[in-house]
Amino acid sequence: MQGLPQHLAVIMDGNGRWARARALPRQFGHRRGSEKLYEFSKWCVSHGVRYLTVYAFSTENWQRSEEEVKALLNLLPQFLDKHEAELKAERIRVKLFGDLSRLEPKLRQRVEALIADSREFDRLDLNICFSYGARDELVRTIRKLAASGQDLSQIDENSLSLALDSAGIPDPDLLIRTGGELRLSNFLLWQLAYTELYFTDKLWPDFTEADLIEAFNDYKKRQRRFGRR
Ligand code: FPP
Repeated sequence: MQGLPQHLAVIMDGNGRWARARALPRQFGHRRGSEKLYEFSKWCVSHGVRYLTVYAFSTENWQRSEEEVKALLNLLPQFLDKHEAELKAERIRVKLFGDLSRLEPKLRQRVEALIADSREFDRLDLNICFSYGARDELVRTIRKLAASGQDLSQIDENSLSLALDSAGIPDPDLLIRTGGELRLSNFLLWQLAYTELYFTDKLWPDFTEADLIEAFNDYKKRQRRFGRR
């Protein structure tokens, strides 16, 4: 038996269906989903998870309707308006993974300030994947290395890992995907190479602490061999 995951990754799926089931616009589901993220982060702190990486807005999500993209982009400043002080009080270190160049400068400055302010916190690393796609992360990283004058023919797994958005963070031990779909949807493709996968039909806004404990209990029974016997 192994302990709890040190690094937990989550695909928070099902907000749209949660809203539709209540005859509400999809945006209501996303807003409920971001409140769930705050609650979920606190559960992670209390269970001793050290790193939490969540998929909040994908590169593909830019193709949703203008109205929904606007609502998804607004989730981040709304979340910070409501929870930034509490995140700091809880000593949660916040990072954003993704192509931040696509965000409007005001939002970008705000998140960059929070990233800098929370740099020394060590209770939980909350990595929010925003305007993020795993293939885009790899392409951005290789371009960044090329632009810095690195000899790309000398790149190895370690040097590439150290240049990704997730630089310096161990790979996820467990991935939870809510909402019933059985796929990775371009999330952390490099980092998930040996991660244990857990899928549940629960929609993200309905996910409870008991559901999290159930996922942990399932994880504890897994035998991780990382390709070795
Ligand atoms: C997928 O559900 C979920 C998203 C596209 C957004 C997820 C975002 C959050 C849970 C909140 C993020 C919080 C912050 C702070 C930015 P879906 O819309 O695909 O749902 P469906 O599959 O039921 O249609």
